[in-house]
Amino acid sequence: MLLEGRKAIVTGGNTGIGKATSERLGAEGASVCINYYSAKEASDAEALAEQIRSDGAPRAIAVQGDVGSEDDVKRMVTRAHDQLGGVDLLVNNAGIEKQAPLLEMELDLWSAVIQTNLTGAFLCIREAGKIMAAAGGGTIVNMSSVHEFIPWPGFAHYCASKGAIKLLMETAARELAPKRIRLVNVAPGAIVTPINQFVLDDPEQKHAVESEIPLGRMGQPDEIAAAVAWAASAQADYVTGTTIVVDGGMSLYPKFV
Ligand code: NAI
Ligand code: BGC
Repeated sequence: MLLEGRKAIVTGGNTGIGKATSERLGAEGASVCINYYSAKEASDAEALAEQIRSDGAPRAIAVQGDVGSEDDVKRMVTRAHDQLGGVDLLVNNAGIEKQAPLLEMELDLWSAVIQTNLTGAFLCIREAGKIMAAAGGGTIVNMSSVHEFIPWPGFAHYCASKGAIKLLMETAARELAPKRIRLVNVAPGAIVTPINQFVLDDPEQKHAVESEIPLGRMGQPDEIAAAVAWAASAQADYVTGTTIVVDGGMSLYPKFV
């Protein structure tokens, strides 16, 4: 097992890539704090924690919280620390997107995307990072996106948040290396999850997306979780301040002639 004895928080850990990651970390021997956003998700998140425990993880808990709220993040990190017996792995996975043309984008929408995708990651890095620093080290994996470097019309807020996470990660990797904290981004391409329901529901859009992927298909959440588990493990002990792209070749610009 790659992560025996580790103590992890996965934000937005109850659906899609986050759910696959929570399951994978547990299967690799980590204790897991599954963060979920809305009270409506409580019973699903509790059931996921139960499943992860029965699959062999030492501990698994579900904790509601908005990553964009400083109070919620402090409460969540404290609970994870108290109930798991520490925190030495953080997966900043929570994220939102909603298409909007730039010239008509409401400030509220811009702010919501930045608050969740970027400020949320900062708050979690700061709070979990303090615990890691005091305990002698840890690993932080941010779920960025190929849109940390590929511009995407209609998603300026989202691309701004993911591009910013790249330099946040790189700067934090330099600043926190002396405290033995590693930071890595995982950048998925198009993955079959609820965030892409608008594409999955439309055969034409799905075909258009697949035609942008040299491997010819969208990815599965567990293919991203596998990269997270490796990046967080001791096998990656010499890896920090970089992005692992898991995108079926999407970033090779397959339509460029
Ligand atoms: P998803 O919609 O299933 O997951 C997002 C999760 O974040 C949900 O569980 C949601 O409840 C949670 N969340 C939203 N706002 C939150 C908040 N304020 N506080 C706490 N949790 C909150 O979709 P998916 O695809 O699993 O997304 C996970 C991450 O992967 C996101 O950061 C997304 O940007 C990123 N990503 C997804 C790709 C894809 O093709 N599915 C590709 C590249 C990146
Ligand atoms: C977005 C997905 C999109 C993928 C590739 C991700 O960051 O969340 O909606 O399919 O990038 O464009």
